[in-house]
Amino acid sequence: MSEDFHKRVEDSIRNPKNMGEMTDADAIGTVGSPGCGDMVRMWLKYKVENGQKIIDKASFQSFGCETAIAAASLATELIRGKTPEEAANMSGSELAADLGPLPPTKIHCTQLVEDALRSALAPGKEASKPTSSEIKADSPSSLIDSLNSDSPKESGVKLVFLDNESPS
Ligand code: FES
Repeated sequence: MSEDFHKRVEDSIRNPKNMGEMTDADAIGTVGSPGCGDMVRMWLKYKVENGQKIIDKASFQSFGCETAIAAASLATELIRGKTPEEAANMSGSELAADLGPLPPTKIHCTQLVEDALRSALAPGKEASKPTSSEIKADSPSSLIDSLNSDSPKESGVKLVFLDNESPS
């Protein structure tokens, strides 16, 4: 991992923006990566401005690596003021562009953020053609609730906690 990339991730997670549950959200999307077991949930709140529906605010929770947290933080800032269509057209690398070029092993981290956003933007569409990485696009409302309520068999994600280690 390049030092520049590592520093940008560290800078971003030192003060992550918009992290936490949004109780009055209009849409929620949750995805998990079967490859690494990490999860991201994104909440969106819309408003109408000049007759156009735009994203008023976004927040996230991530049970994942530092890159996923940094990317989600950047993405929730970047999509504010965009229409759902504009946000849906953004790729994971665009959403996390401020992190710079991603090492190959970290590309899926920004893809996870992109998938969470797409799930929140079009939960009905996601439900009609689910991906293997999608877990649920609706309740329970907090990510930790999902972890507590989803059995590995139902979610497709198996979480294994080791003694004296916290997930990162
Ligand atoms: Fe899996 Fe980053 S989201 S390692």
